[in-house]
Amino acid sequence: MKSLLFGLLTFTLSIVTTSANPKGKDEIAKSPFGKLPDGKTAHLYTLKNASGMTVKLTDYGATTVSIIVPDRDGHYADVAFGYDSASGYVNGKSYFGATVGRYANRIGGGEFRLDGRVYHLPLNDGPNTLHGGTIGFNKVLWKATAAETAEGPSVTFTYVSPDGEDGFPGTVKATVVYTLLNDNGLRITYRATTDKPTVLNLTNHTYFNLSGNPGKTILGEDLMLDADNYTPVDKNLIPTGKIAPVVNTPMDFRRLTKIGARIGEDNGQLRYCRGYDLNWVLNGFTGKVRKAAEVYDPESGRVLDVYTDQPGIQFYTGNFLDGTEIGKGGVHYNHRTALTLEAQLYPDSPNKPQFPSSVLRPGQTYRQETIYKFRVKKN
Ligand code: GLA
Repeated sequence: MKSLLFGLLTFTLSIVTTSANPKGKDEIAKSPFGKLPDGKTAHLYTLKNASGMTVKLTDYGATTVSIIVPDRDGHYADVAFGYDSASGYVNGKSYFGATVGRYANRIGGGEFRLDGRVYHLPLNDGPNTLHGGTIGFNKVLWKATAAETAEGPSVTFTYVSPDGEDGFPGTVKATVVYTLLNDNGLRITYRATTDKPTVLNLTNHTYFNLSGNPGKTILGEDLMLDADNYTPVDKNLIPTGKIAPVVNTPMDFRRLTKIGARIGEDNGQLRYCRGYDLNWVLNGFTGKVRKAAEVYDPESGRVLDVYTDQPGIQFYTGNFLDGTEIGKGGVHYNHRTALTLEAQLYPDSPNKPQFPSSVLRPGQTYRQETIYKFRVKKN
C-alpha cells in the first residue's frame, strides 16, 4: 500500500514538476493544491497534449496556473503568472489566471438599473465595482471534472452563484470548460444561465509574458489588435460611452507594434490608465470566433494568437504590478512584466445602452468561446 501510494505520488509529482515535456500522448493528473480558509482542499489539474504543451489549472477560481510552451529552439517555459499554491490565490489581488465574474471589468458607481430597479454592488476599485466585487468568481471553489476528449485533455468547472451574491440578482449557474487542443490552443468555453434577469460578463485574466522570464518587462513584445476603435475612459477608467477611432493614437495596434513603442507618450488615456488598460472594439463582431489579437516575442520566437467570439478585448500591461505579489518560485512580479488580453463585453455595459448588451434573462444561455493559441516564428 505504502509503495503504491509513493508510486502514485511520484507519478503525480513527476508530471506536475516536469518542464522538459517529452512528446507523447495526452495526459491529465490531479494533485492537492493546498487548503482553503474553510478547510476545503483546492486541486491542481495538469494537462499535457501529445505535442508536449502543458497547462495547469486550479479549481479555486477556475484559474490557469501555468502555461508551458516551447520557444523557437524547442525550449519549454512557463508563460503565465500565478502562485505555487492555493493560498497565493486566496490572498492575491491581481486576478492571475482567474475566471472573472459575474461582471468582468468595471461597473461605474457600483450600480446599474435593470427593468426599472437599481442594484447596488460592493465598491472595490475607488467608486467602481471591479471584476465582480468582493467575492467574485475568482475567489470561490468550483466543482471540477477532468476528461480525456478526442480534441485533447479537458477540465469542466461549474459554480452556482447564489441570488444576490455580490449584489447581483439571480441564481447564476456557470460552466467553464478548458480544453488543451492538440494544435497548442487552450480553448475556454463558457456557459451560464440565470433564474432572474441579471447582467453577466465573464473573462479569463491570464497574465502572459511570452519570454518565459517573469523578471523581464513585456515592452519589447509586439502586439496586434484587430480593432479600428476603442472605448475611451474617464479618470476612473469608466468608458465615456464613445467609440473612438484608434487611428493616429497610441491605441493603434492594427499592425504588429512594439508594446513599449508609444506607452510613454503624453496621452490623456495612457495617463489615466498608467499604461495600457483599455477595451478595444474588435472588428468583425458577428458572434462567431475570429482572430482578435496576436502577441510576438522576437527573442524567444513565441507567438500567442487570441481567437474569440466576443465584441471587445481589454489589453492591460500590468501597470498595477509593483513587486509586492510573490508568485511561482518566489518571483516578485514587477511593473509591466506581463500583459492580459481579456475577451469580454465592453466595461460598464449595464450603464451604457449603446454597447452590446450584458443582460441575461431566464431561458437564455450566456455563451463565450476564447482560444489562446501558441506557435513559434522562426525569426
Ligand atoms: C483589469 C483591469 C485593470 C486591473 C486588472 C487587475 O485588467 O482593467 O485595471 O484592475 O484587471 O489588476
